[in-house]
Amino acid sequence: ERLRKIPGPLVQWYRENARKLPWRDDPSPYRVWVSEIMLQQTRIEAGKPYFLRFVERLPDFSSLAEAEEETLMKLWEGLGYYSRVRNMKKAAQIIVEKYGGNMPADYAAILSLPGVGEYTAGAVASIAFGVPVPAVDGNVLRVLSRILASDANILQDKVKKRFRELLEQVIPADCPGDFNQALMELGALVCIPGKARCEECPARKFCLARERGITELLPVKAKA
Ligand code: ADE
Repeated sequence: ERLRKIPGPLVQWYRENARKLPWRDDPSPYRVWVSEIMLQQTRIEAGKPYFLRFVERLPDFSSLAEAEEETLMKLWEGLGYYSRVRNMKKAAQIIVEKYGGNMPADYAAILSLPGVGEYTAGAVASIAFGVPVPAVDGNVLRVLSRILASDANILQDKVKKRFRELLEQVIPADCPGDFNQALMELGALVCIPGKARCEECPARKFCLARERGITELLPVKAKA
């Protein structure tokens, strides 16, 4: 309910304030997928040069499907979690063999690829294909916890699921990728951990945590 008023101002804010990122200029499915996997455990500024080098050397699914292990390890060196890039090669092979070299355009098919979880599938489907599905990462969980003044434990799967369901009801059909990235961007730039920059926030009028003065207490992350 409270979330209904947010997409308009949020997307407008995003269009005025979004960082220029290489996969945003050219959001092909391959580039969006590579960037989202890379950014899972890597900060954007650190990931950017790796992204540019990776897509220059391996510009599409077929070149990645055929890449040597040694090439992949060199391109990924320094990023860690090497299973990510091994899964990417497996996914690329499936995309070549089963889908003719093109990322499938539906959420369930993307989700079934190796190394792709709900967040990544939602990000690729919405940003690259305009499918109205949520993409809930840590930034988005923090933003939503605060807008709703929710003290639910965001480490619990059922809480992520609840937030996904809430978002499904308010994602704008005409710009799901911008909406999802706006939430991530807001979490990265404004609704940051600790003390939020509420003066700059396009959702400040709708934010219950701000109204109650409890932004710093949210989100709740409680290890079981
Ligand atoms: N973090 C991971 N993917 C992102 C994206 N597409 N926009 C902003 N932050 C991100």
